[in-house]
Amino acid sequence: IGREARYFKSVSSTNDAAKELARLGAKEGTTVLAEEQTSGKGRLGRVWRAPSGAGLSFSIILYPKVNPMEVSQLTMLGAVAVVNALKQELGVPAGVKWPNDVYLQGLKVCGILAEMAAEADQVKYLVLGIGVNVNQRSEDLGELIHSAISLRAFTGRKISRSKLLGAILEQLDFLYDLWQEQGFAPVRTLWKENALWLESPVQVSGLHEVWQGLMEDIDAHGALVLRLADGSRKIFHSGEVSLRPG
Ligand code: ATP
Ligand code: BTN
Repeated sequence: IGREARYFKSVSSTNDAAKELARLGAKEGTTVLAEEQTSGKGRLGRVWRAPSGAGLSFSIILYPKVNPMEVSQLTMLGAVAVVNALKQELGVPAGVKWPNDVYLQGLKVCGILAEMAAEADQVKYLVLGIGVNVNQRSEDLGELIHSAISLRAFTGRKISRSKLLGAILEQLDFLYDLWQEQGFAPVRTLWKENALWLESPVQVSGLHEVWQGLMEDIDAHGALVLRLADGSRKIFHSGEVSLRPG
């Protein structure tokens, strides 16, 4: 992963560029990096903001031989890779928020957006888009200040984006091999070791409802297991988790 790379000074979205390259048959592990995205995309149709010079925005092309249902395992793998790299390179106490956000001090430092094409229950290509808030100053975060943090704001110093990228790619490479050889189990273990809010009271917003309970576990498929007040369990394959105050 990262052996082949394409760099854009400015691109609409590295995910879009990577999907185009994947359709053209780019090698597995090809990494598309951009200084600036003119329409960076977040999950759920949101905008992703990453100012030129401060953000780290890139996408990895993968061809995993899996069912589309299993792709969430790879986005969780991506979050673990980022957490490991942040800990190793900078010693910052980052954690994963289900399913694939990376948090620092209760605020989002990295988001991951997976996009894929599938045919007959088989993934044709997967693009793993990763955005890390690296060198934004607190004042550059604007209204994001309530939900986001940058590594510079946390550590008080400028961080080398290229070194951090190298560390993330190395982790991704290692974890992707592990996943191919041993499946999701070891990745799940690592994810849980870095998880935010296990055994804590949380609420999960699904498409139509909000559920409250204890975040009990992440199951063998990466789904969130919520234990409700009556002791029953509810499984979520998607949704937004937040800590329940009080
Ligand atoms: P609206 O859709 O009405 O504009 P919104 O501001 O919530 O509402 P977007 O502007 O599409 O929607 O998305 C912004 C959201 O995406 C923010 O709430 C923030 O959580 C997240 N976001 C965008 N960029 C970043 C970033 N660099 N770091 C952390 N979170 C980000
Ligand atoms: C999220 O909403 O948390 C996901 C954010 C993903 C942002 C990254 S930046 C690189 C890649 N290109 C995009 O347009 N989005 C992802």
